[in-house]
Amino acid sequence: MASNVLILGAAGRIGQALVSAFAEAGWSVRAQARKPLPTALAAHPRVQAVRCDALDAHALRAAAQGVQVVIHALNPPYTQWDKLALPLLDAAIGAARESGALLMLPGNVYNFGSDLPARLSPGTPQRGDTPKARLRIETESRMATTPGLRSVVIRAGDFFGGPGRGTWLDMALASRVNKGRFVYPGALDTLHAWAYLPDLAQAFVRVADRHAELAGHHALHFAGHAVTGAQLHEAMQTAMGRDLKAADLPWGLIRVGALLVPMWRELLVMRYLWQRPHQLDDEGLRDLIGPLPQTPLHQAVRASLGELGLLPQPSASAFNAKARA
Ligand SMILES: NC(=O)c1ccc[n+]([C@@H]2O[C@H](COP(=O)([O-])OP(=O)(O)OC[C@H]3O[C@@H](n4cnc5c(N)ncnc54)[C@H](OP(=O)(O)O)[C@@H]3O)[C@@H](O)[C@H]2O)c1
Repeated sequence: MASNVLILGAAGRIGQALVSAFAEAGWSVRAQARKPLPTALAAHPRVQAVRCDALDAHALRAAAQGVQVVIHALNPPYTQWDKLALPLLDAAIGAARESGALLMLPGNVYNFGSDLPARLSPGTPQRGDTPKARLRIETESRMATTPGLRSVVIRAGDFFGGPGRGTWLDMALASRVNKGRFVYPGALDTLHAWAYLPDLAQAFVRVADRHAELAGHHALHFAGHAVTGAQLHEAMQTAMGRDLKAADLPWGLIRVGALLVPMWRELLVMRYLWQRPHQLDDEGLRDLIGPLPQTPLHQAVRASLGELGLLPQPSASAFNAKARA
């Protein structure tokens, strides 16, 4: 029997990666977005665009008819989580309940609060000591306690890779790569959790394939790449084929600018994630779906820089030499 998935926020960072991965895996994909999907996704024969606002409950319920899985990949602008995160969640819950579908959410590490321990497993206590931590705790609690809803959270670190923009990789680390700089927001020896989006999207497909067996609520962790800034620095230098001088993100400037720029205020609140080493323990996810997809770090960084159009072009002479060979 054909499997149908409704992806909410299909034009977003993980949304685009999910649409590709599910369509390539043979699922029929309904891809909700307010704006047109990127051409490569819209043209895929197994992708049907659903053009509506995610807060339009009627349109969302209609789109959810006959799907086995709904993925909530919506994300309000960073400065508007307090107003929009829970209404968008409730819309996603409504769509999943309408069709009896499994609701899946890409979770993040905010739930653990600002003194998060170095190793994060699904049983690690959650502490709502920031506004965003409280919202994520409430999000997962509503998923777990809504009567009749079956749900899965796959928690991951910072996204990178894929066609979307606005990750820490493109906004900071690679932002000055063409000027020979590697810009890092924390100490270079501190471990940080990252999720390469094509790998994470594969993990979603493999869990979704088990939708019929999944009752109740499950919180699973995707380990992805737990690496230091130094490891990323080295991977980026290798991909670029040149030395890159390490530079700090200018937190002092961000602190001053935060008086005027709401987004910078939000960044300051979350700075602890660059100061506290952390990684995710993926034991439960491996128990469910077996070995996890993991593109080697160097390959993932190279592909990500390629998506951003930042890799050096082969010189004309190298190209001609290759063509003659
Ligand atoms: N980014 C990360 O590093 C990261 C890491 C771990 C977990 N996560 C979680 O993964 C989920 C998706 O994150 P993302 O970074 O992929 O999201 P994103 O690209 O920032 O946004 C996804 C989509 O949300 C939609 N959206 C935003 N505001 C909306 C509104 N008011 N009404 C309807 N739709 C709205 C937008 O859709 P339109 O195309 O319609 O504008 C956008 O394309 C979030 O729960 C996030 O917390 C993210």
